[in-house]
Amino acid sequence: MDVKIKIINRLNMQILKFNFLLVTLIMANTGSAQFVLPELKYAYDALEPHIDAMTMEIHHSKHHKAYLDNLNKATSLADAGKQRSIEDMLISVENNKSVENNGGGHYNHTLFWNILSPTPKIAPEGELANEINKSFTSLDNLKKTMNDEGLKRFGSGWVWLFINTSGQLEVASLPNQDNPLMDVAGSKRGIPILGIDVWEHAYYLKYQNKRGDFLTAIWNVVDWAAVEKNYTDAKANKLLMKKIELDGWTAFREFKKTYTPVIFPTQAGQYDELKYRINDVALKAEALSKSNIPASLQNSTVRSRLSAIKKESSKLQELIEKKKKEDQIKKTFDELQREYEELVKFLAV
Ligand SMILES: [Fe+2]
Repeated sequence: MDVKIKIINRLNMQILKFNFLLVTLIMANTGSAQFVLPELKYAYDALEPHIDAMTMEIHHSKHHKAYLDNLNKATSLADAGKQRSIEDMLISVENNKSVENNGGGHYNHTLFWNILSPTPKIAPEGELANEINKSFTSLDNLKKTMNDEGLKRFGSGWVWLFINTSGQLEVASLPNQDNPLMDVAGSKRGIPILGIDVWEHAYYLKYQNKRGDFLTAIWNVVDWAAVEKNYTDAKANKLLMKKIELDGWTAFREFKKTYTPVIFPTQAGQYDELKYRINDVALKAEALSKSNIPASLQNSTVRSRLSAIKKESSKLQELIEKKKKEDQIKKTFDELQREYEELVKFLAV
């Protein structure tokens, strides 16, 4: 009997090992599991008495881990092999609730752990200190503004200090796992440099319903050296800011959404999709040419590409309306596509 059990156990172990190998291989092939749980730079009890050890452990190893696992599940199929950065995913998160919640959860908590320290720098210096004084009159007033926003946030969410698309510091509180990278906050978009988690899971074990006490205490462990680094990195990251501005350029987004489905079939000699969508494409091209180009993207190259796209779209519409020959349609489409490719190349997206 014992021998039989030993054999069965050994077989089970072999099956488990095989399954593990199989899952690892599948994940490697699909490019999934690209995001990992960051290790904390300090022990779970290192932020005591301001944040207790049990809260830190559950928050990091359970809550953050769950966001991460769900994010990897959500992205394993849709983004297989793309290896997009978390910032890129969040900027264009429109209509993807799973990535918004779980990608936001992963990005936000990663930033949160990083700006906390048991041996924090107690105040910012240099350019960040100047900008805080300019926008909020003082560091104390910034803290008060953030605490007020945190208290006002109904239900779960975060309070953010971020650099907006005009390059200025701004404070905003957003619900759930939303952050200023996403298109969820109207004009309030930019790169976060400091975030405070006001979900109950961040403080309830120690502070229960007293969110205000948690908000007062947390400033004792906010490391301004880390926030200064986030500020400098964000200022230097022109490409990321450009992507945020580009995503906020509704007319471009609308044109792209309408136009891109016709590219592949038309290039392959199938004109049905183009004929079906041409009126909409021409309409969106006209709206695009009249739209306000975001500040960081404004220049003569972009403007001339936009009027060329409008011109070629109208021409294409006319040719299709008059049922002209397909080789004529193809020639004009190629012109339109060339202009579009030039524009996209220039915008670096
Ligand atoms: Fe949290």
